[in-house]
Amino acid sequence: MDTVRTFTEPSHALALSPRLFFYQQPQAQEDVLGELLQGLRQTPRAIAPKFFYDATGAALFDRITLTPEYYPTRLERQIFSTHGAEIARAVGTERVLIEPGSGSSEKVGLLLNDLKPCAYVPVEITETHLLTASRKLVEEYPWLEVHAVCTDYSDGIEVPPEVPAGRRLLFFPGSTIGNFEPAQARLFLAQLHKACGKQGSLLIGVDLRKDTATLNAAYNDGDGITARFNLNVLEHINRLADGDFSTDNFRHLAFFNETASRVEMHLESCCQQTVSLASETLSLRAGERIHTENSYKYTVEGFQALAADAGFKPRQTWLDPSGWFSVHLLDARSL
Ligand code: TRP
Repeated sequence: MDTVRTFTEPSHALALSPRLFFYQQPQAQEDVLGELLQGLRQTPRAIAPKFFYDATGAALFDRITLTPEYYPTRLERQIFSTHGAEIARAVGTERVLIEPGSGSSEKVGLLLNDLKPCAYVPVEITETHLLTASRKLVEEYPWLEVHAVCTDYSDGIEVPPEVPAGRRLLFFPGSTIGNFEPAQARLFLAQLHKACGKQGSLLIGVDLRKDTATLNAAYNDGDGITARFNLNVLEHINRLADGDFSTDNFRHLAFFNETASRVEMHLESCCQQTVSLASETLSLRAGERIHTENSYKYTVEGFQALAADAGFKPRQTWLDPSGWFSVHLLDARSL
């Protein structure tokens, strides 16, 4: 059921520029601790990927993207830089550009000069990231109007009424779609479709299926930064829930599951151990795994079929020269 959520009046406070509007949407109260404990009690045990991103985790992920093995970020940037003008010709200028989960809005910067949108609408849950990125963009692009929406896009993508009317382009880079289970990915694509409105389009980054050795290397870099990133989730939840997980007693495990076409990330218990968290005591066997994330890898056709189920018609696809990463432009059909 859709809950009605209202936006705050656009705020020009906080010394924002006259071209920067800031909106907040009240969040549904979530039971973070309950969710964490429930995941850890289930079989197999799991920790939701959102717990990766405390300040240390975010910094470690940035370092992963700089390792030679982790190709997705680099190749996607390469596609945007190389084909920006062509992408803009296909999309058209003067669009309302909406980016759910915009973070530090780094990738959109590669396209703004070509795309010349009439407004940019970053949607981001972390207020500091949203404000820092938005301020930087209005400064760097003196023609750009930014409508920053502080909310959790997984609750649905709503656009404040003050945002200019016009054809919309939804932007969802980073192959984040690969972190959803395929059924969830289809539902999320349907939400993107709805947010496209009439004659809207979607520009989305999707990592592609490739040889197992390359995929395994991408999630097991030689300097162990990926391992530290995965293990850091335990330090984060120790702080959140007064736990005593020791990172020395777990090892990072990431491998490509060919049958499911996904890279699976786990933390494997090195010994029989008990861990306390909140008021619980967890007993883990040696070799027992805690699942932390999946990263599904699609073929171009496989992704297009999934998007078609959600109402999208493929228009153009760009690949990097090795054919490892894809960027898709799809049109929202009227349903
Ligand atoms: N969303 C990223 C991905 O699927 C996250 C990621 C990269 C990750 N390396 C990791 C998650 C290692 C856990 C462990 O590519």
